[in-house]
Amino acid sequence: MANVAVIGAQWGDEGKGKIVDWLAERADMVVRFQGGHNAGHTLVVGENVYKLSLLPSGIVRGTPSVIGNGVVLDPWALKAEIERLAEQGVHASPETLRVADNCPLILPIHRDLDGLREDASGAGKIGTTRRGIGPAYEDKVGRRAIRVCDLAHLDDLGPQLDRLCAHHDALRAGFGEPPVDRERLLADLREIAAFVLPFAKPVWRDLNEARTGGKRILFEGAQGVLLDIDHGTYPFVTSSNTIAGAAAGGSGLGPSGVGFVLGIAKAYTTRVGSGPFPTELEDETGQRLGERGHEFGTVTGRKRRCGWFDSVLVRQSAAVGGITGIALTKIDVLDGFDEVKICVGYKLGDETLDYYPTHAADQAKVVPVYETMEGWQESTAGARSWADLPAQAIKYIRRIEELIRCPVALVSTSPEREDTILVRDPFAD
Ligand code: GDP
Ligand code: IMO
Ligand code: MG
Repeated sequence: MANVAVIGAQWGDEGKGKIVDWLAERADMVVRFQGGHNAGHTLVVGENVYKLSLLPSGIVRGTPSVIGNGVVLDPWALKAEIERLAEQGVHASPETLRVADNCPLILPIHRDLDGLREDASGAGKIGTTRRGIGPAYEDKVGRRAIRVCDLAHLDDLGPQLDRLCAHHDALRAGFGEPPVDRERLLADLREIAAFVLPFAKPVWRDLNEARTGGKRILFEGAQGVLLDIDHGTYPFVTSSNTIAGAAAGGSGLGPSGVGFVLGIAKAYTTRVGSGPFPTELEDETGQRLGERGHEFGTVTGRKRRCGWFDSVLVRQSAAVGGITGIALTKIDVLDGFDEVKICVGYKLGDETLDYYPTHAADQAKVVPVYETMEGWQESTAGARSWADLPAQAIKYIRRIEELIRCPVALVSTSPEREDTILVRDPFAD
């Protein structure tokens, strides 16, 4: 099976975009299968920096790209991103980009609701990206969604709009907001339909054709396992399954089509938004990690919280996410530290845990147990082979592999595309 699924093994922003772009050279197709424009994937190619939210990262190399049905699609965000990338010389056309015609849409009313709820939640707020992701997935599961294929049938939308508005009007009234402006919504949809429809296809057919033709499919996950709606730090999660299993349902290829699961993990840990974070460092070391790693959100610009590598969490992600191998990124950010720490377990009261407990209160209470290793003073930045890494950095990577019980397949040593060490080729497995 030559297909590869790339997923985040922490709380997102692990460097998925960089790794997908690197692997895309050898892929025949790149497929997004969940999430939406809450994602922010950064690609650095020489002088050029590309920031992608909705478009699969393969688009930058011109690899045929697919937005699968598991994604929630804001058609206005799609248009804006395509136009922004065109200014950078990257052109997404119906030949290079296909959007599943059964993709549910994110509408302005979803964005409204996301913001209204967050503002009303006080200390309980999730810290979402306010892009309408959660409300759009709710409407999908509630069978109220407007989908891409509906854009070709706007004259028949009446009964669907009745159901959608009955739900939203009640919610909006609770927040003191006026009912949905149906005329305006329809007019906006009519306007955007002409842009989106040329990209719309039953993409499951392309995927199945690619599979039978022996083509290599690269799945690009968004967010990370710890933000997974089932397996993450609920309720401080996103509203989709971010594990590799979602690639099957979110694309229309089936579980046997997924292949090698490459989990992306930073050599330390970051999180943006609210929620528990056992190894978070609110001291100078945390600040140093943030500064060296330029830890600011790609989408919202928010400062990311930083801490040591948590092997308990990544081991759990590898298990529940079905991860075959890890790409360890940003090892260069740890250059110059006298010592580096790895969380190897938790204390919860008198108990020692080798897993992350399920309840949010316990998750917030656990105290990490650290193992301290000697750091390295040499630079790993830009290293492209194992031999270029200092002995202590190799020791650190090997210890991580041992603790997470999963081999390291790739190591990333800078934002730049080619600064990547291949240890085990995911496509060759
Ligand atoms: P994604 O959401 O998982 O695609 O990750 P983001 O793009 O949101 O955040 C990762 C950031 O780290 C981006 O700015 C990347 O350019 C950068 N990056 C990726 N790999 C490396 C690396 O190995 N070293 C350093 N220093 N930066 C990296
Ligand atoms: P990429 O693909 C990091 C976080 C938000 C918030 C929570 C829910 O770039 O790794 P949502 O808007 O999805 O309802 O927000 O999830 N979040 C991310 N954090 N990287 C992301 O994507 C994220 N997408 C959502 O900050 O805590
Ligand atoms: Mg990101």
